[in-house]
Amino acid sequence: MSVWAVIAAAGSGERLGLDRPKAFANLRDRPLLAESLERLEGSDWIDSIVVAAPPGWEEPVILLAEELGCGKVAEAVTGGTTRAASVTAAVAVVPQDATVALVHDAARPVLPEEVIERVLTALNEGWDGAIPVLPLSDTVKRVESDRVVETVAREGLAVAQTPQAFVAPVLRAALSDDEATDCSALVEARGGRIKAVPGDPRLLKVTEPADLEAVERVLGDPAPSDA
Ligand code: C5P
Repeated sequence: MSVWAVIAAAGSGERLGLDRPKAFANLRDRPLLAESLERLEGSDWIDSIVVAAPPGWEEPVILLAEELGCGKVAEAVTGGTTRAASVTAAVAVVPQDATVALVHDAARPVLPEEVIERVLTALNEGWDGAIPVLPLSDTVKRVESDRVVETVAREGLAVAQTPQAFVAPVLRAALSDDEATDCSALVEARGGRIKAVPGDPRLLKVTEPADLEAVERVLGDPAPSDA
């Protein structure tokens, strides 16, 4: 089985209010992307990595990978205007004989090895894909403008995280330049069978500046340097 990781890292970071893309936001004095790159590099489950980079940031991504000693990084491709377009561009350079594509958001820097193991193990059980999910703890409302129009029954609802793993040809066939906010939605739309496995609260998604602080808290104190 050959497993290719695809990192969606081409988002703009507008909501972080930065002068650079979100993947290069500062997380403990390193670009945000460094954290997930290093974790995928260190995972025994992953053979190779492709990064969908923000346009113009392909070279900084490769330099970062070199600096971190991430020899599994095969390529940094130019991302698209939507997440799905970015993933499509990255999957296009995954070799045809790859067995599995594991798609991860750079915006979720804390990637536990156990979650990679959970989604990949599900594929061995014959599923087309597997995604980490967390139960909802809040009551969910449908809101139009500022008016609450419905309370949605929480039973059976879950929030989806990444990494999401797919049988590579299944993902390839499902990808399109769509507004879908995750790859699972595209595979589901084609009738693919997706297993939900337990997610992890550490897989926080960085959207707003406060999220970076939350991720720093999850990471804890930096290891003391040798100096
Ligand atoms: O914008 P949002 O945080 O929802 O994006 C989720 C992930 O998709 C991020 O890691 C972001 O870098 C990536 N993305 C992308 N290409 C885009 C938009 C988002 O790779 N055009």
